[in-house]
Amino acid sequence: MTKKLFIKTYGCQMNAYDSARMADVLAPLGYAPVERADEADLIILNTCHIREKAAEKVFSELGRLKPLTADDPARGKAGALIAVAGCVAQAEGAEIVRRAPFVDMVFGPQTYHRLPELVARAARREGAVLDTDFPVEPKFDHLPAGEGPGALSAFLTVQEGCDKFCSFCVVPYTRGAEYSRPAAEIEAEARRLVARGAAEISLLGQNVNAYHGVDEAGRRVGLGRLIARLARIAGLMRLRYITSHPRDVDDELIAVHADEPKLMPFLHLPVQSGSDRILAAMNRGHRAEDYRHIVERLRAARPDLALSSDFIVGFPGESDADFEATLDLVRAIRFASAFSFKFSPRPGTPAAHIDSQVPEAVKDERLQRLQALLRAQQDAFNRAACGQTMPVLFERPGRHAGQLAGRSPYLQAVHVDAPAALVGRIAPVRIVAVGSNSLAGALADEAAAAPAEMSA
Ligand code: SAH
Ligand code: SF4
Ligand code: F3S
Repeated sequence: MTKKLFIKTYGCQMNAYDSARMADVLAPLGYAPVERADEADLIILNTCHIREKAAEKVFSELGRLKPLTADDPARGKAGALIAVAGCVAQAEGAEIVRRAPFVDMVFGPQTYHRLPELVARAARREGAVLDTDFPVEPKFDHLPAGEGPGALSAFLTVQEGCDKFCSFCVVPYTRGAEYSRPAAEIEAEARRLVARGAAEISLLGQNVNAYHGVDEAGRRVGLGRLIARLARIAGLMRLRYITSHPRDVDDELIAVHADEPKLMPFLHLPVQSGSDRILAAMNRGHRAEDYRHIVERLRAARPDLALSSDFIVGFPGESDADFEATLDLVRAIRFASAFSFKFSPRPGTPAAHIDSQVPEAVKDERLQRLQALLRAQQDAFNRAACGQTMPVLFERPGRHAGQLAGRSPYLQAVHVDAPAALVGRIAPVRIVAVGSNSLAGALADEAAAAPAEMSA
């Protein structure tokens, strides 16, 4: 009998990848994914712990879901099993069991391959099952490949965990130490994704450019070499990687931006702050000037490269001058998009215990100013697309009949009147209008672009 599985995913793309793998692990047990929690026999919340509200959202979601864990005689439906996975589970497993005792399973990001066993134990209803180990054997060794058609734009985790210990961040505690998967294993998974329909693959890692796997000969392979290797896969059209750290941008990685047309010219490179004093207090391990220099080298390698970034305002001790330095850096770099956050003290991280916390009102004001600047840069970047012709990967039907929706190399949403047969393919599109959240384009007239061939 098929059972129904509902997974709600919070946080970063690595959680999205993990959710897909959990579904793969549970498929042989008869679980099929559904879109609604109230139909499900098993509900999994795949959680994120990165900022304060993230964990609170999980607790309020659990409150809403609680009624579904009871048998419903009117519908003839047994109560659903409910599980909390991901980074909140890893960090606050015991707290979840205490605050939400109706939860059946709590397990961290490194134990998904043990799900069948956890589900079997939970089904016996002998009390909450807690598994927040960091097993010695990597979970990747035990995850099945998944079957049937997959995503056109797929995620592939190549590296997991973080050894950097930025003073504000929970990730090294929730995801554990850095681990890089062997290159051959990654290539095999990429080939399977392409066989299942992926045209684009985003390589994922908390610190994806700290990747240092080994190849078949036992040689060390960095991210640049890995990208070059994957780019040879026929049928794979686009590659991206996320999230990288400025400290791990090496010569090979810069070179692959110049050499590999399948690698998209759009890079998410978090900087957090433009103040050297704050960068040092954050334990980022580089100065603002280093960041500028890396961006210069990347742009020299790939002149059409656009950047996005992450920022934290109101880190403890951040003065007006420190904040101005961040604005200066933003003005100097010009970002195509960005995420910015108010500093949120996270339990167990060093920055949570620094005395000079910045008042909430100051954080608010700084965030508004920074976001206004970043928004203006993003708008300028989008406006500049108007009149340009760019390759668009068509993903799905658009909102109107005869229309398709796709993505530019810069992940901009693009709507175009185009035949449905173009889904899954890349075609040149001339951008004709710029909206607030998407671009409108028209298929570039190939006949006009190549009159010589036409008349021959
Ligand atoms: N590994 C990536 C970032 C992962 S977390 C890197 O090194 O850049 C994603 C983003 O969340 C971070 O870039 C940071 O901007 C933000 N973030 C992390 N911890 C935070 C905290 N305690 N308060 C506010 N923002 C935080
Ligand atoms: Fe967190 Fe820093 Fe590691 Fe990024 S590099 S995951 S911000 S500790
Ligand atoms: Fe969140 Fe964990 Fe990702 S804390 S951002 S889900 S690594």
